[in-house]
Amino acid sequence: MTPYCSNWLSSLIAWPNQISPTKTTCFNLRSETVGNPRRRATATLSTLGVAWRAGHIEYDSSRLSMDDSFVYPDGRILESSNLKIFTFAELKGATRNFKPETVLGEGGFGKVYKGWVEEKTLNPSKSGIGIMVAVKKLNPASVQGLEEWQSEVNFLGRLSHPNLVKLLGYCWEDKELLLVYEFMAKGSLENHIFLRGTSNETLSWDLRLKILIGAARGLVFLHSSERQVIYRDFKASNILLDSNYNAKLSDFGLAKHGPEGGKSHVTTRVMGTFGYAAPEYVATGHLYVKSDVYGFGVVLLEMLTGLRALDPNRPQGQHNLVKYAKPFLANRRKLARIMDQQLEGQYNTKGALKAARLSLQCINGDPKSRPSMKEVLETLEQIEAIKRRSKDARLSSNSLRRTGTGTGTGH
Ligand SMILES: Nc1ncnc2c1ncn2[C@@H]1O[C@H](COP(=O)(O)OP(=O)(O)OP(=O)(O)O)[C@@H](O)[C@H]1O
Ligand SMILES: [Mg+2]
Repeated sequence: MTPYCSNWLSSLIAWPNQISPTKTTCFNLRSETVGNPRRRATATLSTLGVAWRAGHIEYDSSRLSMDDSFVYPDGRILESSNLKIFTFAELKGATRNFKPETVLGEGGFGKVYKGWVEEKTLNPSKSGIGIMVAVKKLNPASVQGLEEWQSEVNFLGRLSHPNLVKLLGYCWEDKELLLVYEFMAKGSLENHIFLRGTSNETLSWDLRLKILIGAARGLVFLHSSERQVIYRDFKASNILLDSNYNAKLSDFGLAKHGPEGGKSHVTTRVMGTFGYAAPEYVATGHLYVKSDVYGFGVVLLEMLTGLRALDPNRPQGQHNLVKYAKPFLANRRKLARIMDQQLEGQYNTKGALKAARLSLQCINGDPKSRPSMKEVLETLEQIEAIKRRSKDARLSSNSLRRTGTGTGTGH
């Protein structure tokens, strides 16, 4: 989502004090200024707000439930969103008055709190009773506001897929804007990959692959839906994990419908996150479906190397992961030099090389030369199959050895 707009070059010079490298930002490469972000946010509230309030969200309590029957296995665009409209008092109750101890994290929109609601009705319940939910509350000081909140409600409220986080409802009372999501027990991928050494253990290569496949399925669904959706903010902090490490995409504040009428791109104000946004988009504002593929390539690189997309604390020349890692990706020996040391070599080298080459294709400067997300998913599934085959081969040679029927163990 969008903490503020700033001039790309000057913010880069001022960075990291001025911006958080992992938060969503409004880039401004061209000469026009976007204007005071606070003013922009207020204007948005007054111009879009009324129109949307008169809108279309219908609430049918009989269909509300966390029951999985409402997550369509192959994804579905719902006729109308079926979100619960919470009162502010209900969300206060669910989060024990937004108690600091219930804070799960904080992004550009505001803090995210853990709350409890009744499973069937989603009415607030006492802590420990019912189901857990995540409640995202707009920080009044944030420049994000109705526009991002509205996009989240309109897109996520109507998209249903196992790899998209489920939006359960929202609240809009006076200046209070909140969103209520299913609770994702393992938090964000960013926390697992980059905030290690705390309670999080290193993610194994197998789990990284599982997460990437889940996230790729989410993007394939968005890109192949009837009216294409460009996600625009693919990054490790927007990939949330459930208790089984199933990945779900969150944060549709920047999502856009894809081009129509045979056009290759849509033109937008340039927004996204430093390090993940595709170069053609940052330079021209032309947003392609393949701009998401670039972001995916960057996250894939993060998974391989354990390094953040952008990190000013790395030595000179290594700040930008794409630039730094590119020369290491096509060759097995070179790749070994930048693979995440926390993996301690516990990965299938053939699979890792295939993944590295895939990331190289995804970060191609020319969007047309990048693979589609469908192709990316197929390659990741092949890598998973290599891993499974080599595991099976190991297991069967071990059992042959044990039973004495394998080569070299003969009688
Ligand atoms: N549904 C959820 N279940 C559990 N934890 C969540 C959920 N949604 C968000 N969080 C936690 O809250 C943190 C902040 O999320 P948020 O999306 O607001 O910010 P962000 O992704 O870090 O930044 P940005 O504003 O750029 O999106 C996440 O990193 C995650 O730890
Ligand atoms: Mg986020």
